[in-house]
This record gives sequence, structure tokens and C-alpha cells, in this order.
Amino acid sequence: MTTRAPEPIYLKDYTAPDYQVDTLELRFELGEHETVVDATTLLRRNGDHQRALVLNGHDMVLIEVKLEGRKLEPVEYLVDDESLTIVKVPESFRLDIRTIVKPQQNTSLEGLYKSSETFCTQCEAEGFRKITYYLDRPDVMARFKTTISAEKKSFPVMLSNGNMVASGGKGDRHWVTWEDPYPKPSYLFALVAGDLACLEDQFVTRSGREVRLRIYTEHHNAHKCGHAMAALKKSMRWDEDVYGLEYDLDIFMIVAVDDFNMGAMENKGLNIFNSKYVLADPQTATDDDYAAIESVIAHEYFHNWTGNRVTLRDWFQLSLKEGLTVFRDQEFSADTFSRPLARIGDVRVLRSHQFPEDAGPMAHPVRPEKYIEINNFYTVTIYNKGAEVIRMMHTLLGAEAYRAGMDLYFKRHDGEAVTTDEFVAAMEDASGIDLQQFRRWYSQAGTPTLKITDDYDTGNQTYTLNVEQSCPASPDQPHKLPFHIPLAVGLLDDQGASMKLRLRGESEPTAQSTRVLDVRASTEQFVFDNLGTRPTPSLLRDFSAPVTLNVEQSAEQLAFLSAHDPNPFNRWDAGQVNALNHMLVRIYEIQQQQPRSPAPALVAAMRSTLTDTELEPGLVGEAMILPAESYVAEQLETVDVVAVHEVREALRREIATQLRDELGTVFEQCSSNAGYRFDPDEAGRRKLKNVCLAYLMETDDAQIESACLRQFKNADNMTDVLAAFRLLANLDNDQRPGVLADFLERWRDDALVLDKWFTTQATCKLPNTLAAVRELLGHPTFNIRNPNKVRALIGGFCFGNPVHFHAQDGSGYDFLAEQVRILDPMNPQIAARLLGALSRWRKFDHGRREKMSATLDSITKIPGLSKDTFEIASKTLSV
Ligand code: TRP
Ligand code: ZN
Repeated sequence: MTTRAPEPIYLKDYTAPDYQVDTLELRFELGEHETVVDATTLLRRNGDHQRALVLNGHDMVLIEVKLEGRKLEPVEYLVDDESLTIVKVPESFRLDIRTIVKPQQNTSLEGLYKSSETFCTQCEAEGFRKITYYLDRPDVMARFKTTISAEKKSFPVMLSNGNMVASGGKGDRHWVTWEDPYPKPSYLFALVAGDLACLEDQFVTRSGREVRLRIYTEHHNAHKCGHAMAALKKSMRWDEDVYGLEYDLDIFMIVAVDDFNMGAMENKGLNIFNSKYVLADPQTATDDDYAAIESVIAHEYFHNWTGNRVTLRDWFQLSLKEGLTVFRDQEFSADTFSRPLARIGDVRVLRSHQFPEDAGPMAHPVRPEKYIEINNFYTVTIYNKGAEVIRMMHTLLGAEAYRAGMDLYFKRHDGEAVTTDEFVAAMEDASGIDLQQFRRWYSQAGTPTLKITDDYDTGNQTYTLNVEQSCPASPDQPHKLPFHIPLAVGLLDDQGASMKLRLRGESEPTAQSTRVLDVRASTEQFVFDNLGTRPTPSLLRDFSAPVTLNVEQSAEQLAFLSAHDPNPFNRWDAGQVNALNHMLVRIYEIQQQQPRSPAPALVAAMRSTLTDTELEPGLVGEAMILPAESYVAEQLETVDVVAVHEVREALRREIATQLRDELGTVFEQCSSNAGYRFDPDEAGRRKLKNVCLAYLMETDDAQIESACLRQFKNADNMTDVLAAFRLLANLDNDQRPGVLADFLERWRDDALVLDKWFTTQATCKLPNTLAAVRELLGHPTFNIRNPNKVRALIGGFCFGNPVHFHAQDGSGYDFLAEQVRILDPMNPQIAARLLGALSRWRKFDHGRREKMSATLDSITKIPGLSKDTFEIASKTLSV
């Protein structure tokens, strides 16, 4: 909490820490009302200076400080709301600090807190300072030894990082000691104590070491950990196979808790997870949940090397671990599930979340230059654009040189706290490729545009691509220098076959049908020789760079590519661009009150995709999904939520009507009762089936509606149940209340399934949705302290229901402001994130713009507002 406007922290101000820590011994007395924390730290001066020792600390009661065993008098140190300062300390010394914290009252879910009956911690980024006074920064790495003591019956399980080395007990209390042999920054510390069930397994590393694997949950969820365990073993094997990286402790533990601000946390040897990313069985988890669990388990496991063994010098380097680890988990999913489907998913996230962020008031480079609250910088830019930056290096270097770069990175920096620059240097040194210009991807924000035109010269049989790059201004960055962009292209002949690629000046065409062009200058020309006919270009294959393409392509060309491009990603993308272009034309027609033009080429292309039996079903399903409303809105100069919604709905109905027979046939073909299995074929089949069902439901056919109701009632898996439930919940008829009640009845005791129930209602298209959402806030199963519930209901409405959230009367904005006022004092991280729903306020019409900015302004004036929420509200307004 702050009264004055908080000050930003700048990357340029970085200095090495004044003191270093060798070891830290922690003792926790977990109590019913409070917890006593004793911390013994061995410190030493770092460098030649006489500066005071300043330890970070916040929200605790300091009981006593001893320096070299002597208790300090209050005049010998200084405590304020953020720190403990000791002016005179020797070269190296021992500190004993006793603090008292109140986990039971900690609603921020940062530091030590309680989730249900379980004690747990969340220390990234700066939560450790709410546990004890310490040098809470990632470039201070120490060996930790942790003793936990608690009442035996309620807390039989007590965990921390590393290996358990001792335990004992007396009376109704017991204690255990854990020791972590690897020096680590405080943000990787973790503690858990509770009455938990455990699924145990084992993994033998490729060098033959046995690692015990344990997943802890509340007892009633013990049967839902099998999928997570399988995912963990798969991840461990993959990291050995692809990166040559083995796990380094004798035990690896995962704990699932219900109250968690983010997805999961990579604490050394003791990952703590939002239970949403651990628990699954076919009846309660969808295919998307199964896939998300695999990728989050992999992500956190991969952090053991990219984040933990090599960590960050400072928080400006956050993407060093997050971008890299996302790239690693994306490739894991591509290798173990489906490469094209994984890539389509990655690009959807990028286009619908990261591109808007990069074009809006919170735009920041992958390596930011300043922040007020670091928690606000766990963004799609740091994570997903950061992953694209690593992917581009992988593309520019090739798999082999990239791997050599990774090996060199670990060889140089294992056990160190480093910067993104040091990562790029390792890539450069191992490959001999100059990445000087490429580094601008780390320092310049904004999504570049590539404007591409082409020429075919019949006489010379040459084909030219003219490429022009530009990048719009971002906050603090009015002008951008050109980026080094890998542009992957292929050329197709009029049969759709790949043409041989020979650039001017080369003697032989390349063997591959895709060629990566290095775009470096603002304008570039690439001339291909020896092409007998005019090719159709397939550009930016596999989305080889996070850019927007500006290319003139006719609906016929796009339809041709969506039927023939040998690159499955581009095939899908051509269909998306075709649909998007058509929707943009229709939005214009609505706004100009012109008659609608039909979409014969688009519908024909969708028909041929839908009936293509060669394509994997999951890809057909993805191709049938029109671009999201939020993505379409982002393409408009001024957002018109109503027109976007109407156009998308109308196009869906048109497709449904014209392809009715084909949709019915495919729906039947994809319906089977073989029993649930999660694999690419089965998940793809279910995806396609449910996409067809959703279209068919647009045709107002009573038979379809009963088929949907049967699926809702009888399906043996949540994927099918939820797909049907969502469709039924959007039908305004007599059976709707019964359907909602039925779902609630079946899943009343399953918090994660109830999240789906809340989201389905929050994202409903029917009128009066806001009133329903308000009523649901008072539902006995709703709990505003639980972030999953907030995301499901409040987040579902504000982010997933554009038409109602942006209601002309401003009621959606008022609702958001009310919830932020309630949440901010409780959990600033969660409150601040909700404000993202207002970030694009400048793109709206005058009336909405005024209302959104007034809402933001009123939020900045809330007395005692958190830094988190203040930073987002004020930056959103200012740019
Ligand atoms: N490092 C975590 C990850 O794997 C992110 C994270 C988990 C986090 N909990 C957090 C970040 C709390 C900030 C606050 O991506
Ligand atoms: Zn991460």
C-alpha cells in the first residue's frame, strides 16, 4: 500500500549486491494463529565499500536481531515498511533474525499463506521478503536449510526444497529438516505443510540415477494425479533426449493447491501448482485441460535448468527464463502431441493477446527498461513473445547450432545469475552467427509489419519478393530501428506442388521446399530464378517471426493455399486470413448500411477442408473455427463490438446452413463410444465433432437440440459434456434453467468443474448476463478469495464477453470497478490483472472511451491503492 505515487525501478540503475549470503538456515514454528520464523544467515561484504546492510522485508513483526550472537539494541538498526537497515557490520558475519508472520490472514497469496488447510508459500517474485528480512533479489544465491515444526495430526506432511535430512517429534508436534545442496535465490524457496495424499513413482535418469517422484494433493483428489505423473515422466525424458539435461536431486515433488495466483511455480525440487494444472480425470477435465496440464508440468520441470540452475541477474531479465522455458514447453508439446496443432495454439495466443498488448499502453520490450511492480510484468510479451524470440534464434541458427549454443550457455553459466545478453552471446559464440541486430528484439517493443509485394517476370522467368518492414511507435519508443527477421517462404505452382527455390546468384536450388530469408534492412528484395510459371507464395511459414503480414491476396488465392499449401500451419492460416478479410468487409458494409456480399469462395474452401479425409481431424476442427471476436476487433481502426459480434454470428449461421449436410455427416463420423483416451487422434476427433455440433446448433433444428441434450446428459467425458453444456446455456428456452441446475447438481463438490459452470454463464450471449453474474457472486460455491473463481466469473465476463462487458450504458465497466475495489486490498496481483480488460480504451467510440477512462481515473484515486493496480491504471490512462 502506498500513499505517494510509487517510483519506477530502472534497468540502467542495476548494481551488484553490497553483500552476499553463503548459507541460510530457516526454522518455522507453524502455529494456529501465527508462525515464528527464525533465520540464521551467514553474510559477507561484496566488494570494497562501507555501505550499510539493507535487507528487504514487509508485512511482518520483527522480534529480534542478533549480530554475531549479540542481540542488537533498537538504536543499532532501522526498520521501516520495506526494509531493515544495519549501518555497521563486519566483513563477514552471522545474523539471527526472528520474525512473526500471519499466514492465516495472508490473502495476497504471496509469502507464506494458507490454502484450505495447507500451509504453502509463493516467493516469486518478491514474496520471500514477507517471510523474513533478507537480500531478496535473484543475484543473491545461497544454500538453504529449512526446519519446519507443526502440530502432528493436522500437518503430517512437511516439505521444503532439496532432501529431507532429519526429523523428530515431541508431544503433539513434530519437525523435519530439509537441505538443498544447490545455491539458489530466495524466489525459489518453498515450504508446504498439510494433511496431503501422495502419488509416488520413480524415474531413472539416463545416467542411471533413481529419482523419487511425488505428487501431493488433498485426499479426495488423490485419484486425479495419474495424468500429471505421466506428463512429468515424459518431460524428464524429453529434456534428456532433446537438450541432454538430467534432473539433479534425488526427489522431485509437486504439490497441488486450490488458491494460487498463477499457473504454477518452479521452486527447486518442490514445484507448487494451481490444482487446475494437476488434477484430471476424464469425467472432470476436458482435452484442453489435459493438454494444459502436460504443458505446465513440462514448463515447471524445464525451469530446473532454465531458471534454477542458471538464474536471473535481475527481474528485467525475466524473459531469460520465461521466454526460453515457454519455447521449451511449446516444442515439447509439438514433439509429443501434434506439431501443427501446437503451433496453431501458440499463434492464436500471440495474435489475440500479445499483439494487442504490444500495440497498447502496457507495451514493453521483452527486456523491459523500467517497472513499478514486477508482478505486472509476468506478461504475454515476456512469456510468449520471449518464446518467439528464442524460436527465431533456433530458426536462424538451425537445430544443431542452437543446441551447441544451449550447451555453451550451461557450460558458461551453470550456478550463475545472468542476463539475456549473455544468452545471446552464447548462441553467437557457438554458431558464429552475428546476432547484433537481432538483439533489438529484446530492446524494442511493438509488433513489426512486413509489407510484401511480388513481381513475376515472364521473359526472365524470375520472381521477386519486395519486403518492407516497419514498426509502430510504443510508449517511450517513438522510432524503431529495423529488426533482423527470419522470413520462411515456399513457392507453389498452379497444381499446389512445391517449386524449386534458387535465389539469384546461387548455382543450385536448395533441397528444402521452405527457405528462410534474412530480412535486415527496411526494404529488401529477394529474386528467385528459373521459375517457369508465376508461383503462389506461401509466406511466413510456421509463423517464423512474430510480425503482421501486409499482403494483397485474393479470396481465390487464399482458398487455393488453404486447400494446397504443404505447410499445415500456413494452410490453416490462409483459411483464417480469408475468413478475417471477409468479416472485415462485412463489418464495413454494416457500418455503411450497404447490402452484404456473399462469401462463396470462403464457404467453398471450408467445405473442401471439412470433407478432406486426408487431414488430421484436429486440424480440420481448427480450420473451421472463425477468428475470435477480440482478434477481429483488434484489426479495426475503431472497435465496434456489436458489429463484430453480429458479423461473426451471421457468418457462422451462413456456414452452418450451407454446409449442413457435410457437418451432419462429419458429426456422425466423429461420434464414437470407444471410451475416453487423451491422444492427438481422439482429442482431434472430439474437437471436430464438437465444432460441427456448434455449427449445427445454429440451424434451429429440434433434432440437433435433442442430440446436444443427450450428449450433455450421457457423455462419459467432460470435453463432450462441456461442449454441449455451453451450447445449451446459450439457448433461451424453458429447458435452460434445468440444464444449469443439472450441471451444478452433478459437480457441486468439484471446485474445478464449477469454475467451468461459472465461466459458461459469465460468457453467455443472452441478455441479462451481467445481472446473472452479479447474482452468481453471492452463490454459496463462489469465493472471491480464490483466484480461479475470480478468473472464472469476473474474468470470464470482463475478458470473454465483449458484447456485454462493453455495453453502451457502461454497466460492465462499473461492475469491473466495483470488483477491483473489493479485490485490491485483498489480492493486488489479481485486482491489477482485471484492469487489462480496459487497456484498449482508446480504440473505442467516443462514448465508451469516456466511460472507460473515467473508470480508470476513479481507480487511480482509491485511497491506499496497491502499486500493482496503480501502475496498470495510470499507465493505461497516460499513453
Ligand atoms: N515462475 C512461474 C512460472 O512458471 C510464474 C509464477 C508463479 C508467478 N507464481 C507466481 C509469478 C506469482 C508472479 C507471481 O511461470
Ligand atoms: Zn515459467
